[in-house]
Amino acid sequence: MVEQWKSRSGFILATIGAAVGLGNIWRFAYVAGENGGGVFLMTYLFFVALIGLPLVIAELSIGRRGASDTVTAFEVAGGSTRWRLIGWIMVGGALLILSYYSVIAGWAVRYFVGALSGDLWQDAGEKYGAYFEGFISNDFEPLFWQALILIVSGVVVAGGIQKGIERLNLVLMPLLGLIVLGLAVFSLTLPGSGAGVRFLLAPDWSAFGRPSLYLAALGQAFFSLGLGMAVFVTYGGYLSASTRIPGAAATVAAGDTVFAIVAGLAIFPAVFALGGDPAAGPRLAFVVFPQILLQLPGGTFIGPIFFFLLSAAALTSMISLLEVAVACASHRMGLARNRGSWAIVAIVLALGVPSALSYGMLAEVKLLGQPILDNIDQAVSNFVLPLSGLLVAVLVGWRIERLRTLADADFGDTWLGAVWLWSIRTLAPITIAVILLRSLGVV
Ligand code: TRP
Repeated sequence: MVEQWKSRSGFILATIGAAVGLGNIWRFAYVAGENGGGVFLMTYLFFVALIGLPLVIAELSIGRRGASDTVTAFEVAGGSTRWRLIGWIMVGGALLILSYYSVIAGWAVRYFVGALSGDLWQDAGEKYGAYFEGFISNDFEPLFWQALILIVSGVVVAGGIQKGIERLNLVLMPLLGLIVLGLAVFSLTLPGSGAGVRFLLAPDWSAFGRPSLYLAALGQAFFSLGLGMAVFVTYGGYLSASTRIPGAAATVAAGDTVFAIVAGLAIFPAVFALGGDPAAGPRLAFVVFPQILLQLPGGTFIGPIFFFLLSAAALTSMISLLEVAVACASHRMGLARNRGSWAIVAIVLALGVPSALSYGMLAEVKLLGQPILDNIDQAVSNFVLPLSGLLVAVLVGWRIERLRTLADADFGDTWLGAVWLWSIRTLAPITIAVILLRSLGVV
């Protein structure tokens, strides 16, 4: 018998912790900025409600029925060993995401420490660009901070479901919620912040004509929810039969979305109030934002809080990705949790070296004109995640018998269940397939 969550709220907070991460703060702000602000937000909300949420429910129900690791869960759900392959693809994908996600998480930790010690504020004015580039192009530093946050994640996962993952999230997630709310209130009270709110919420209808909008919005929905890498399959494996899946999944999807919007309201109004460039890519969090903080009264006090938020949000997501692999190592390969955790941390660190060095020693190694880290991010978000989502939809919607699949997801034979199944069988696979083919340049 595998371990289970101690309480429903512990499960929900841990799952929101998995969903809320760099995707909500660092990625949402810049993808929205690059894709027309308000129009991006509307497209994003549409995808989350009609495709993201149904897939969260599908992953959780596969997981709970398997009551084990991802590979076992797919085997049970698919009714034959062939379906194991999907499980292994997802575990591999989780390791791949972790390999570069931990690099950016490491940057956030480095900035947290720098903001606390005051080191970050010394290079004032226009020089922040140089500060950032100097750090990420260092041959050793990014690797050090990446290893540090990976080790912290390893300690938590080695602690187990209740004593490690659940306990940390019970404390950290409410705290992060308060922090992001406080930052948004502060940012919205700055003179001139209205332009930032308009940028995030006001629709520029012409952006709907751009196909890249849909790829970006679906990719962001998958990444931000944390779909397609078996995080929900794994966390669902520790879920008791008494928790209703649809309500829990809706809470998680809503929590993730609200968090992204509030984080956007913490970042954009401040950026606009002080005349920063909103579509600055990753530099938005690491260059534009520190610059802005320095111009604000109390900014050097807010700095550490912002980078703590970024680091801690990344940590709870890394833990979920790590758990996907650790659960497999312990159930399928018989490794004890402790040993399994450190073995996986070592593998991720090895896999992550090229990403950590991709703006430094390996900056010359470029694919499609981009550094290694950006390539992995785009390949995973725009291709592997949607593909895994498609496979989950086919399994849950078509392979498992209708009444069984409805019962596994706690819907029963209800109209809500029919709507869910319609999305899983038709809307989600077709939308994902069209967007995948588009991104491959086929249609
Ligand atoms: N959802 C997290 C974020 O927004 C990252 C993440 C965790 C993730 N688990 C995932 C992304 C699984 C894709 C798949 O930052």
